[in-house]
Amino acid sequence: MSHEPLRSHDLRKVYHSRGAPATTALAGVSLDVHRGERVALLGRNGAGKTTFLRIASTLLRPSSGTIEIFGFDADSEPDKARPLIAVVPQEGKPFFHLTPREQVYTYLRARGFPRETALARTGEALEKMGLSDIQDRLSITLSGGQRQRTMVATVIATEAPLLFLDEPTIGMDPFARRAVWQALRDLTAKGSTMLLTTHYLDEAEALSDRLYIIDRGRVLVQGTAEELKRTVGGTLKVTLGGAAGRAEAFRSFGECVVDGGALTVIVSPDRIGELMAIAVREKLTATVGPVTLEEAFLRFVGRSIHEDEE
Ligand SMILES: Nc1ncnc2c1ncn2[C@@H]1O[C@H](COP(=O)(O)OP(=O)(O)OP(=O)(O)O)[C@@H](O)[C@H]1O
Ligand SMILES: [Mg+2]
Repeated sequence: MSHEPLRSHDLRKVYHSRGAPATTALAGVSLDVHRGERVALLGRNGAGKTTFLRIASTLLRPSSGTIEIFGFDADSEPDKARPLIAVVPQEGKPFFHLTPREQVYTYLRARGFPRETALARTGEALEKMGLSDIQDRLSITLSGGQRQRTMVATVIATEAPLLFLDEPTIGMDPFARRAVWQALRDLTAKGSTMLLTTHYLDEAEALSDRLYIIDRGRVLVQGTAEELKRTVGGTLKVTLGGAAGRAEAFRSFGECVVDGGALTVIVSPDRIGELMAIAVREKLTATVGPVTLEEAFLRFVGRSIHEDEE
């Protein structure tokens, strides 16, 4: 397999629903995922992330454009692509009448793994997802987070060359989320590649080598978290309580955003002393923190929303 795990070119999808206007979910998405990478798709609700993953995982046909999985066309050669991928779908649920152990094992057997391998992998995946204690309970009796962990366990146990994970940690507690991150890192260390979506920007930052920000079916920007954060124009953000009306006084330091009664100013470290001196003089409470992916996301997506108004 010398081809890229995933390569899409000008992928478009228009949904035609009865009695409703057509919806353009993808308006020409070109992206690549390189071998061993963890890549995240970020975007608002309805941006087109799930549509992209469904087409990539051969479950939905594109309206036009191409998408290749390890060199196989996902639309015309789905049978060749399918054995190479595994998917955690958005809002997927385990079979209620199976236990986590039965679910993972049965899935591995269905994919053609021999009994011993399936058994060993099942135990390992359940352990990694912290499900060993409840592996023999019917899934209907599990909590929402435990069910989601079962879905992730099922997919990581396949050790497939390419994993698609659509909001894999939704509803999980912070410990479970970290267990998923570790399991996914371990898998890429073994040679798997993954494309995931998440609305948790800390997760995107902790987990992905590269990110694509998608909005209204288009790629707005791609890069590492560091690269995207650098575009914000500073590395620190200072939040000034009760200073919402004072943006003019701070505009020269960098981008200013009003949020409730507070004013957030993006600033470079060499001007932080100057800014804090003003805050002290004006008796404003100041909280200083690093710029995060959230600022980059708001900046790119916010700018694209405002294009409508120009
Ligand atoms: N089966 C469908 N029929 C018609 N329209 C659809 C269908 N599935 C999705 N859409 C529309 O396509 C657009 C993209 O939806 P999609 O589910 O890909 O977004 P998403 O980025 O995954 O959003 P979220 O973050 O909410 O999961 C939305 O406008 C959605 O309403
Ligand atoms: Mg979605």
